[in-house]
Amino acid sequence: MFKVYVYDDYEGVSQKAFEVMEEIIKQGKVTLGLATGSSPVGLYKRLVEANKKGLSFKDVQTFNLDEYVGLSKNHDQSYYHFMFEQLFKHVDIDVNNVHLPKGEGSLEEVAAEYEAMLVQNPLDIQLLGVGSNGHIGFNEPGTSFDSTVHVVRLKEETRQDNARFFKSIDEVPNFAITMGIQDIMRAKQVLLIASGKNKAVAIKEMLEGKIREDVPCTILQKHHDVIVVLDKEAASLIKHD
Ligand code: F6R
Repeated sequence: MFKVYVYDDYEGVSQKAFEVMEEIIKQGKVTLGLATGSSPVGLYKRLVEANKKGLSFKDVQTFNLDEYVGLSKNHDQSYYHFMFEQLFKHVDIDVNNVHLPKGEGSLEEVAAEYEAMLVQNPLDIQLLGVGSNGHIGFNEPGTSFDSTVHVVRLKEETRQDNARFFKSIDEVPNFAITMGIQDIMRAKQVLLIASGKNKAVAIKEMLEGKIREDVPCTILQKHHDVIVVLDKEAASLIKHD
């Protein structure tokens, strides 16, 4: 079930997302599923400010959705690096409570271990952005709805979308390791945030389209508790009553 909120702009989206997350973090011992990319940057900024004013992450543990294959933790475009820069190094979280799948080593083992950890540590909330092609995590169009943690070949449109962070398209990795659809669907609550025109089609499909593996975000129609926070542009194609 979706609860949809629409705000004028990215700042409004980030503020609402912050309020949802803050409520959860205030509960103390909680497990958060986190995302990278442009969408959560404003939310993370607000969480850092709130931490300075007393919102503690001491009992919080986190699991990130995904990581690029082949980038070391120190690579400035690895999601590990992103998460430390945007959030973890600025708040009082215990580094041992921070989890991301590793994009190096024996990936089958990494996937199996990450899956086992996710099963043992149910997510109180999973934060999601959405790809312009409807991907969630790096579950690209065509991914099985039964998928668990796995390695994916990134679609060309995803590599193009993400090329803005790299020196050139050639440097964007071809593969990533990601939570599967099943892992996302097990979260008690989902918070999906999106802004900008290039998300409008994916958002319309997610809310109104047929549930199908070609548009991974449509599976969220089957989740019982999804908060969707959009700016006007991302919401521009959805029907109004
Ligand atoms: C990030 C992730 C991706 C992004 C999506 C949107 O960890 O799994 O699904 O959420 O690609 O990215 P942005 O927010 O950069 O538009």
